[in-house]
Amino acid sequence: MDRVEIVEVGPRDGLQNLPAVVPVADRIAFANRLIAAGLKRIEIGSFVSPKAVPQMADTASVVQAVERVPGLRLMALVPNARGAEDAIAAGLTELEFVLSVSDDHNRANVRRTTAESIAELRSVCAGIDPERKLTMRFGLAASFHCPFAGRTEKARTLGVIEEVLAIREDVEIALADTTGKAHPMQVQALASEALARFGTSARFAFHGHDTSGFGIANVLAAYQAGIRTFDGAAAGLGGCPFAPGASGNTATEDIVNLFHGMGIDTGVNLPRLLEAADMAAGFPGAIPGSHIRLLPRQAA
Ligand code: COA
Ligand code: ZN
Repeated sequence: MDRVEIVEVGPRDGLQNLPAVVPVADRIAFANRLIAAGLKRIEIGSFVSPKAVPQMADTASVVQAVERVPGLRLMALVPNARGAEDAIAAGLTELEFVLSVSDDHNRANVRRTTAESIAELRSVCAGIDPERKLTMRFGLAASFHCPFAGRTEKARTLGVIEEVLAIREDVEIALADTTGKAHPMQVQALASEALARFGTSARFAFHGHDTSGFGIANVLAAYQAGIRTFDGAAAGLGGCPFAPGASGNTATEDIVNLFHGMGIDTGVNLPRLLEAADMAAGFPGAIPGSHIRLLPRQAA
């Protein structure tokens, strides 16, 4: 059976934009429910300035407490060297370095131009002891569309991919539709070209938001282009606090349901994932965005 890999980003993307800070104990309980549902790759939080994103303060305590099961991979988002150091000190071996392909969004998000973030990434990578065997993901925000500058030209995103792969190969690159305004043809075009040009030096993932209702269609477009790793957030929560107008991630349960419907394995237990999604939907201020979660359960 064909198989895809699901990366659950709810504990990071899902919670970072909620109006109220979710207490650490609830963040841990949420992550444990996701783990119980069979999710093996989880973005557990971020190591960013707590002034910029108070919702992600004390991710180290979440990392420390979540249940460990065989094969579980935890990843955290970092924007700079300080974040990478803190994530490693918390015991993580998988980091997602975030940078936006758009200068305007990158400035709003991390107060740097894209080139400055690439320079920061270079120094982060140079500072990592090769003995550490860190797994790296480069998260390319606004790969398709910028909340301030509009559509991102494909050549711009491909150029940034080329630059970051010159720093380090053997990484995963997440093509992020931060605003949820990409359409399937755009996803197909960028994903195909990225895989054709860089598929031997990097692995690719698709990170989508469902702002325009294209979330599942974009996942399918990325799959048809050859991508096999997909980000989702339980209950469709999520959004970058510095990307006005964006709504939640494409719901993990909808992605899992899509692939199971097509006879493609995800390793995820959908009924148990729905329980985790129910918890996420109940966080104060949450605006859930999924489809399958709202159907009568016996029909799921
Ligand atoms: N973790 C925790 N604190 C950090 C930090 C990190 N990774 N990086 C910097 N800081 C602290 C500094 O110690 C400093 O603290 P102080 O005010 O108490 O002295 C403060 O943040 C400002 O540091 P500075 O280096 O000047 O950063 P900045 O103000 O230019 O902000 C970022 C840059 C990247 C730290 C900040 O914009 C940020 O955290 N952005 C996160 C964006 C995000 O998570 N977006 C959603 C996901 S895409
Ligand atoms: Zn996102």
